[in-house]
Amino acid sequence: MTDIKTVGVIGAGQMGAGIAQVAAQAGYDVILSDIDLPRAEKGKAGIAKLLARAVEKEKIGQADADAALARITPVGEIAPLAGAQLVIEAATEREEVKRTIFTNVGKILAPGAILATNTSSIPITRLAQAAPDASRFVGVHFFNPVPVMVLVEVIRGLATSPETVAAVEGFAAKVGKTTVHAFDAPGFVVNRILLPMLNEAVFVLGEGVGSVTDIDQGCKLGLNHPMGPLTLLDFVGLDTALEILNVFLTTTGDPKYRPAPLLVKYVEAGWYGRKTGRGFYDYSGPEPVPTR
Ligand code: CAA
Ligand code: NAD
Repeated sequence: MTDIKTVGVIGAGQMGAGIAQVAAQAGYDVILSDIDLPRAEKGKAGIAKLLARAVEKEKIGQADADAALARITPVGEIAPLAGAQLVIEAATEREEVKRTIFTNVGKILAPGAILATNTSSIPITRLAQAAPDASRFVGVHFFNPVPVMVLVEVIRGLATSPETVAAVEGFAAKVGKTTVHAFDAPGFVVNRILLPMLNEAVFVLGEGVGSVTDIDQGCKLGLNHPMGPLTLLDFVGLDTALEILNVFLTTTGDPKYRPAPLLVKYVEAGWYGRKTGRGFYDYSGPEPVPTR
């Protein structure tokens, strides 16, 4: 079985940074890459903040936080990922972006190394066509925020080998996660269930059935959800949620997945949620303020 010592992460956004953090805290060396070095460094700076907060709260010691941070090397190109035995792609949820990445990774990936994708929705068998070796390609779906959420969904494509699945299960266990297995259908298990609910919340808002507060408070207090669906959409990223729904719609052809018009409008406006400072809430002040 592949002995994993160094993990490459492609995409240093909220998910890639989270994966890099848990891997480094578990003792792996991590190469964290993005389109350019400043973006990769920004991802590492975010990890430094979270580790500092964990030290403040006495969840981890200063020496462990320093050691974890020192294990993360930010890079602005793909070539250094040749040193990794496992590369996890966590770039923007767009098929052509991921396909281009896999083609480029194919030129440098170490022999025997595994290429995994953190895609939220795109079928693994389809993406594997752009990967260097479909038997060493697998879906490893983390949840946001990665340091807190315990689940990893493992999705086997048609050609994924049992050795590849075993290696990523071992990795997930070492970073403290519990795995479930999902068949290779759009959205796998959890997002297939979650996204229609989040989308419906935007229909409810768009039709004026309830305000942002009514919807979020309603689901928090009435369903015991930790976050209301519109807060969660802002947290996930409206751009990512729209991409996921479009994958569901185009792959299945089922109109039940059509994105709510208001979701499309917000994305067209560049209101992606927390990452752009505005979504269903405005994040420019000390507390989020509902925008409708
Ligand atoms: N990154 C890292 N850690 C974070 C964090 C973040 N963005 N936000 C909160 N935390 C940590 C806090 O540091 C705190 O840690 P400690 O207990 O060690 O002190 C802990 O989470 C709890 O935080 P808070 O007390 O500040 O806030 P909370 O109790 O409201 O919890 C939450 C925050 C864990 C995010 C909670 O609101 C929650 O579970 N929300 C739902 C998250 C969810 O559904 N995620 C799945 C999204 S869908 C997905 O990921 C799949 C996809 O493909 C789109
Ligand atoms: P994000 O927008 O926070 O980050 C995406 C990062 O990818 C950005 O830093 C961007 O610069 C980088 N990127 C784009 N093209 C790239 C390229 N060619 N090479 C290297 N880096 C590139 O997005 P995110 O929320 O971190 O999502 C990343 C992936 O994880 C997506 O596939 C998404 O569906 C999936 N995911 C997201 C969530 C979530 O809640 N946001 C949860 C689970 C899985």
